Amino acid sequence: MDILRDILLQVRRERRATGHFNASEADHMRAIVEACHEAGTAAIIGMSEGEREHLGVMEAVALRDAFRKEFNIPVFLNADHTRSVEKAKQAIDAGFDAIHIDLSALPFEENIAGTKEVVECARLQTTNYKLQPISIEGELGYLRGESKVQQEKIEVKKEDYTNPDQAAEFVRRTGVDRLAIAVGNIHGISLDEPDLDIERIRAIRAAVPESVALVLHAASGIPHDQIKAAIAAGIANIHVNTDLRVAYVHALKEALASHPDEAAMYKLDAPAFAAMKDVVVRKLRLFSTPATIES
Ligand code: G3H
Ligand code: ZN
Repeated sequence: MDILRDILLQVRRERRATGHFNASEADHMRAIVEACHEAGTAAIIGMSEGEREHLGVMEAVALRDAFRKEFNIPVFLNADHTRSVEKAKQAIDAGFDAIHIDLSALPFEENIAGTKEVVECARLQTTNYKLQPISIEGELGYLRGESKVQQEKIEVKKEDYTNPDQAAEFVRRTGVDRLAIAVGNIHGISLDEPDLDIERIRAIRAAVPESVALVLHAASGIPHDQIKAAIAAGIANIHVNTDLRVAYVHALKEALASHPDEAAMYKLDAPAFAAMKDVVVRKLRLFSTPATIES
């Protein structure tokens, strides 16, 4: 049961979702793992190219192993938004459990070719070393924004949304385990309230085999009712970054301002750690309550 694929299938059956939380520091990882441990769920930790360059891929893997030992829960590392096959291979070699190969900015055929190459590389690694299967996530559609509080309005265009027929073809030809979709979501906290196209999620879910998990990125700032509706429509995994970053940095700034003479970082970042952990706890509560609207 501690294989990511089984966990994603299980939550889908129960009309729930798993959280995927980003980290760039050891204490971010601890905040996520502690929250997941308390909630009794597996921890899925995402690291973008920038985040893993900051911590180091080997260091991230070593920390994951240490957290698995300490907390005795499944802890998965996902190489989030990996924009090249080369970087994906680097994360596979380092021992990441999951790769998000994001070639969504490329033309459809190039996206398929690169994603397929990563899937094949992961399968080969699994066969050679008899490791647990490495879960591969592809992305189709165009997701705007980045993980920050947006200062300008970002327009989401319908033509950027994932097309259900293309999604079916993409999954069939690449063999991905997870699919990230664009359905009105924007990375970061946007000025306007996001407006997810729930019908589109339902249509993609119907077009793609149930064995492939649908992933909703950019969940920071999305109202709770839309998250619940997205889960009911077929989302099994939800990515959150900005809400965590904001909570952490805000608490850190307050600690710095209120303790100007303190020089011990581990004391200053304790409230930041607690604030981040609290966000993860609240998100897990939201994602794990079974969605009532049937898909
Ligand atoms: O891959 C990471 C997530 O999509 C984060 O998005 O910063 O909007 O929460 P977010
Ligand atoms: Zn994302």
